Amino acid sequence: MRISRALLALLAAARGCDSFTAVLTRPSSSSSSREGRSRGATTTTTTALSSTSREGRIRRATTTTTTTTTTALSSTAEEVGSGGTAVVGTPGTADLPWSELGFEYRDTKSHLRMVYRDGRWEEPTLVESPYMQVHIGATALHYGQACFEGLKAFSHADGDVYLFRPDENGMRINRSANRVMMPEIPVDMFVRACNDVVRDNIAYVPPYGSGGALYLRPLLFGSGPRIGLQPSEEYTFLIMVIPVGDYYKGGLAKPVNGLIIDEYDRAAPRGVGSAKVAGNYAADLIPNVQAKKMGYPICLYLDAATHTKVEEFSTSNFIGIDNTNKRYVTPSSPSVLPSVTNKSLQTIARDRGMTVEARDILVEELDTFDEVIACGTAVVVTPIGSLTRLNDPAKGVGGDSSTMYRFTEDVGVTTRALYDQVRSIQNGEIEDVHNWNFKVQ
Ligand SMILES: Cc1ncc(COP(=O)(O)O)c(C=O)c1O
Repeated sequence: MRISRALLALLAAARGCDSFTAVLTRPSSSSSSREGRSRGATTTTTTALSSTSREGRIRRATTTTTTTTTTALSSTAEEVGSGGTAVVGTPGTADLPWSELGFEYRDTKSHLRMVYRDGRWEEPTLVESPYMQVHIGATALHYGQACFEGLKAFSHADGDVYLFRPDENGMRINRSANRVMMPEIPVDMFVRACNDVVRDNIAYVPPYGSGGALYLRPLLFGSGPRIGLQPSEEYTFLIMVIPVGDYYKGGLAKPVNGLIIDEYDRAAPRGVGSAKVAGNYAADLIPNVQAKKMGYPICLYLDAATHTKVEEFSTSNFIGIDNTNKRYVTPSSPSVLPSVTNKSLQTIARDRGMTVEARDILVEELDTFDEVIACGTAVVVTPIGSLTRLNDPAKGVGGDSSTMYRFTEDVGVTTRALYDQVRSIQNGEIEDVHNWNFKVQ
């Protein structure tokens, strides 16, 4: 079983037990979803009000009925097996066009759901319906009390499935939760929830060789009602899973061109930029859509206070590569999200003899990089061909005030090396020397 030694120790310590199998082994529980507290299928009836008739009259529409099936989790000792290896099924058996997957929502078998009530987390359940009832006063809806995560599971050649560094995401969701006053999820509970939802959706894990992965989207939000600005008393944690391919079509095949954003900011100093809270992403919608219309698939943000330093892309960290001096340079800023991919690539870069510099990067310094990379779970390692600043303050008024920083037209050598190495580890094709892969069982 390949699993991070540190994680093993963490899990064992957290549970006061001496093996990971013991952590996964627990009594089966009853369902605790809001749609129904009991095991099995439950029925929720809702009355919809429709005001969209052509005549403009308000009509009471027919009653609609939705059925939600919940399954209590039961990874019992029998399922895990005496050797600690459970039969989890065969990845890639769902009827999907595996080689054509992009990065968009698809239904799968289930999502995992767990509620925090009366000061404690209730047992998780697997829910088949992708819909849920949410209180109209939920703090997530009114005050943005919500954060999320993103991580992936990969099939290996032998048919086993591995999560990539789920403990890192478990720690990061707790940092985000703390920032917006939500309860933490113990890291062992988080990792086990990831394990269990992948296990239930094993048919949706893209098969080895397809280039895809099962993307996990854990989400934590205030689900209890508040009218005054206060934290909720109730929280919902869920993990949805989606089979995905490339985020930017073409994957590593072609560098993408980015736009430096001057009209908007992503995160304020001392704000919530370093937390993965939902509202950060709403702030990026207008610039993102505008940039795409102008032919730039990716946006680069600058520091909000001075607009002189590089921060990060909309959903990925920035890396500049100087091949002559073997330098890997990435911004160090309290308003940048600490990326698990960036952390992993830094380790790989050091292993390859590069110097890693985490520091301020002035916009003008973009000229000094041979290669620029956007890195993240979704985009993996995406080469940036150029970065354009439309109204460069250095150029003053009048004439052409734009500056274009050009990098590689094709995928750079270091970009390719970093990509190949991290993907080979994720695919189980080279030794996982840092114990990043976590076996789903
Ligand atoms: C703003 C932002 N920066 C960076 C990243 C990359 O982080 P990671 O490598 O952990 O996916 C993400 C994605 O989670 C992100 O949303």
